[in-house]
Amino acid sequence: MTVPVQFTVNGQEYDLQIDPRTTVLDALRDKLGIMSPKKGCDHGQCGACTVLVGERRVLSCLCLAASYDGADIVTAEGLGTVDELGEMQQAFLEHDGFQCGYCTPGQICSAVGMLHEYQAGMPSHVTPDVNASFELTDGEIRERMSGNLCRCGAYVNIVAAIREVADSQTAQAAQPLPVPEKVTP
Ligand code: FES
Ligand code: FES
Repeated sequence: MTVPVQFTVNGQEYDLQIDPRTTVLDALRDKLGIMSPKKGCDHGQCGACTVLVGERRVLSCLCLAASYDGADIVTAEGLGTVDELGEMQQAFLEHDGFQCGYCTPGQICSAVGMLHEYQAGMPSHVTPDVNASFELTDGEIRERMSGNLCRCGAYVNIVAAIREVADSQTAQAAQPLPVPEKVTP
């Protein structure tokens, strides 16, 4: 039995007939040949499969493709081209934010999604006061990226790359970050 699924991936529309048990990760890699999302653990524990759905980062190994019918998906390939890298891709390159590179597409997608979350005022586990404005410290970056593992240990350079993009976006925004809404228990 198969079900019809329609995706937009990196701006291109696809119509698929898939087994309803197929994950987004397997649909991207096996059906569409989009190979940047990596299958590290296949259990939601390493972040290598991270892609963006809209501006939200998701672990594609945990998403059933049939549930994402109509989704607008962006993988690391969709964030720039070889001739014109996206700003996060360029920053990873300049800061040597990768060694083997296996985790890198997921790290880059996660970093882009994480900055959207921060800019939307979403606190993290290490945010000192969830009811106040807060800085994107290196501690915040590390916590927010903690779902993306790198067996090569390129973490220091990954933080530096994300820091550069975050600082650049903050300067461009030229306006204070929104104060998160009060969280009621
Ligand atoms: S392959 Fe998805 S989290 Fe590891
Ligand atoms: S660069 Fe090798 S796993 Fe991260």
